[in-house]
Amino acid sequence: MQPNFVIHQLFPILVYQGKIENHAAYKQIFMGKFDQYGFDPNISLKSNGSQTLTGEYRGLCLLHKDPTFAPFFADLTFKIREYLSYLGVDDSQFDINIIKSWFTIIENDSAMQFHIHCSSDMSFVYYLDTSGTSGNIVFERPKESYKFLDFFHDMFSRADRNFIKNTSDQTPPYYDCIPNEGSLLLFHSNLYHGVRADPTGKRRISIAGDIKLTLKQPILNRESGLMSPENWQKF
Ligand SMILES: [Fe+2]
Repeated sequence: MQPNFVIHQLFPILVYQGKIENHAAYKQIFMGKFDQYGFDPNISLKSNGSQTLTGEYRGLCLLHKDPTFAPFFADLTFKIREYLSYLGVDDSQFDINIIKSWFTIIENDSAMQFHIHCSSDMSFVYYLDTSGTSGNIVFERPKESYKFLDFFHDMFSRADRNFIKNTSDQTPPYYDCIPNEGSLLLFHSNLYHGVRADPTGKRRISIAGDIKLTLKQPILNRESGLMSPENWQKF
């Protein structure tokens, strides 16, 4: 059977883009709670007056705890396991934890600068409402991955330092993904990404979030993998 997702190859990282089949229903459900989790991105919370585009920055980052959205997060978990399976990971040993999730709202020709998501293993973006047009999400091909090979380091930043004639996928330094409404992206949290401005200035809403993998109970005899939080003790 043909997979219903595509893999974007950012040598040596793989980014997943799949389709959320129940998108129409989920869009209605999420937008039905816009009053609770949405916001006006033009109201800045930053001292320099710059736009605050994410619910994350406003403390509106617990969508995954709201039972209304449980069917979406169940679908998301299925897709995450699909991605892990593609990567060749034995996901049967891991629980998938959504640790944070929020609305991102971009309008008026705004862009989002390059950033990573700290404190998680994997991140997702689900394009809820792109109004038929949207600025691309752009991934920066990881340079840090090459640090373990000194002579590869910095190889892509300048043509005269590029020792690689061919990567497996010919990925350019910056890789655009088209954020089609209803699609889902999964990527490593430490992969730099940003959003290009959409010249039409139309509002675009996405749901983003962070994922942490922990060992299933009762797995205790591992020297790697994050222990299940059920075994943690807060002091
Ligand atoms: Fe992000």
